[in-house]
Amino acid sequence: MYSSKIVGLGKYIPEKVVTNDDLTRFMDTSDEWIRERTGIEERHWVEEGDGNTTSGMAYKATMQALERAGMKPEEIDFIIFATLSPDYFFPGSGVLLQDLLGIPNVGALDVRNQCSGFVYATAVADQFIKTGMYKNVLVVGSEVHSTGLDISTRGRGVAVLFGDGAGAMILTRDSDTSRGYLAHNLHSQGKYAKELWVENPGSRTPTAKVIENASKNPEDISYYPYMNGNYVFKHAIVRFQEAIGEALKDAGLSVNDIDMFIPHQANLRITQFVQKQLGLSDNQVFSNIQKYGNTTAASIPIALTEAWEQGKFKTGDILVQASFGSGFTWGANLYKW
Ligand code: UT7
Repeated sequence: MYSSKIVGLGKYIPEKVVTNDDLTRFMDTSDEWIRERTGIEERHWVEEGDGNTTSGMAYKATMQALERAGMKPEEIDFIIFATLSPDYFFPGSGVLLQDLLGIPNVGALDVRNQCSGFVYATAVADQFIKTGMYKNVLVVGSEVHSTGLDISTRGRGVAVLFGDGAGAMILTRDSDTSRGYLAHNLHSQGKYAKELWVENPGSRTPTAKVIENASKNPEDISYYPYMNGNYVFKHAIVRFQEAIGEALKDAGLSVNDIDMFIPHQANLRITQFVQKQLGLSDNQVFSNIQKYGNTTAASIPIALTEAWEQGKFKTGDILVQASFGSGFTWGANLYKW
């Protein structure tokens, strides 16, 4: 029997800061509205000419994680790449990262589970390690949202929320099974697919028709993200708590055992709600949405990296990663540091 141990964490955030006030130049919104409803103060967006891509930012985050692990790219046996904003429609960003890392023939799997992408990717990586198939697995979440947002007033309900960035985690096989990932759960409810989605491009609509619609009808927004915000919020606060409870139960633990809760950073109000439900104190919950907005699949690895950099947990601590988002998909990972 093996366990998976986190041996390296890294992140990369593009330089350009976009404040809430900056957004008022493009749309009818306000710093007050955004802060009150979401907790977000600013986010980082890639800039034309800065060379930042989904795979490129993942590469930078990975190199930091590898350096901290004292490892070289050649030691990676497998790549799992979570993103909803791949560089291209296909192939996925995992293979581009494999090429950037210069590790020919290493397998690369893209995970398309949006906000829950990193939770899903972590669970998959842990299984590969536990079965003995791979020794060192790179798990990455990276997103470039800014190039796909409607930054006019029409898109304000979504555009103000999202930021760009990447986070990486190196998992290594360990024979000490008293530590590492203790439990995972992964869930979905596809009947709510359209409550948070980007319809096009997709194979249901011929590409030629998408182009025709877009050129004839400026109101066609099928290629921009749509979210039924209130609806998503209401489901999120229920599912976060359920997933965390399930993971604790599976590991034979209780809420009192949680040392650090690292949630997907979707909305500070959601995090505070869940914190209250669980009865956790402020220093048991990590939030950085104020600085980065919602970076979807990158939000947990960025938060985990920052929490580690700030010395928020120590050997033996119980960490919970949990997420909810488009799909709907949700889940949790429980880790003993
Ligand atoms: O990570 C993936 C999962 N995502 C989430 O979990 C997000 C869940 N949902 C949310 O976080 C919240 O629903 C939002 C932050 C997206 C929206 O907050 P809300 O309190 O649910 O606001 P709302 O959508 O009900 O909109 C309230 C009002 C509307 O105006 P009326 O109809 O009351 O006149 C909106 O048009 O606020 C308006 N509005 C804005 N006003 C200024 C919507 N977006 C903006 C904006 N600036 N950016």
